[in-house]
Amino acid sequence: MLWKLTQNVLTTVVVLYTGIHWGIASVPGVYIVLNIFQSTVSHSNFERSLYIGISIGLAYVLWMLSTILLTALLSYVFKPSIGSIRVPFLSALTIRWGFLNVLDRLAKPCIHHMVPSWITDFYYRALGCKIGKGAFVSSDRINDPYLVSIGKNAIIGSKVIITPHLAERDDLVFSPIEIGNNCLIGLGAQINPGCIIGDGSVIASRAIVPKYTKVPPGEVWGGIPAKFIKKK
Ligand SMILES: CC(C)(COP(=O)(O)OP(=O)(O)OC[C@H]1O[C@@H](n2cnc3c(N)ncnc32)[C@H](O)[C@@H]1OP(=O)(O)O)[C@@H](O)C(=O)NCCC(=O)NCCS
Repeated sequence: MLWKLTQNVLTTVVVLYTGIHWGIASVPGVYIVLNIFQSTVSHSNFERSLYIGISIGLAYVLWMLSTILLTALLSYVFKPSIGSIRVPFLSALTIRWGFLNVLDRLAKPCIHHMVPSWITDFYYRALGCKIGKGAFVSSDRINDPYLVSIGKNAIIGSKVIITPHLAERDDLVFSPIEIGNNCLIGLGAQINPGCIIGDGSVIASRAIVPKYTKVPPGEVWGGIPAKFIKKK
């Protein structure tokens, strides 16, 4: 009962906050559009449409960049410093984690458009993800980045889900995920809490790696649940 009430109140606050967050992020773009609108009154309708149209397109890109920046700043401040931990659903940590998830969802549409890029690497790093030199992160689905480390020259395919948390019965379980140097995580694979993927290993596309799995270096694993396929 208390849990349900808390959830409903927080959801309402979140819905209102979404408007404010995205609204603040839209200010630079709206400013440009307004200026173009005012400074082109003496032009023909065709020229005005062109200038205003381009400024709206740029305003949308600016909105995405501002959303990523604003979200990264807030998440940087609020990200917790945790390791392997199990907490009840209603706890100070889960409320903080829920807020971080809300922030992440506000940035998701923008991240989705921009992976892989230095912009999304910046976002994940601001949220605490360790990304080694030369790594190529093509997924927009890295949950709890403060619990994820990705080694040098690793490739994270698109639609890969890296999730260091799982809901289990009445608890949330968190455990860090380590992806070694030169690993390849195939398209759409899912890496669960506590997994360690050894250097140079390959996780096949669509595989689900169960929680706490340790994949030794230099091996290919695949399937659901993921199992050893062969040495590389
Ligand atoms: C796993 C993978 C590396 C194997 O490729 P490969 O070395 O060329 O090996 P093969 O295709 O000969 O397959 C070897 C075995 O793995 C199995 N296998 C291949 N892909 C698999 C998958 N996605 N899930 C489960 N098993 C798979 C094959 O059935 C075969 O089994 P068998 O020996 O019993 O016949 C490859 O299929 C893969 O998933 N690569 C990921 C690519 C990717 O998503 N890149 C990032 C985005 S572009």
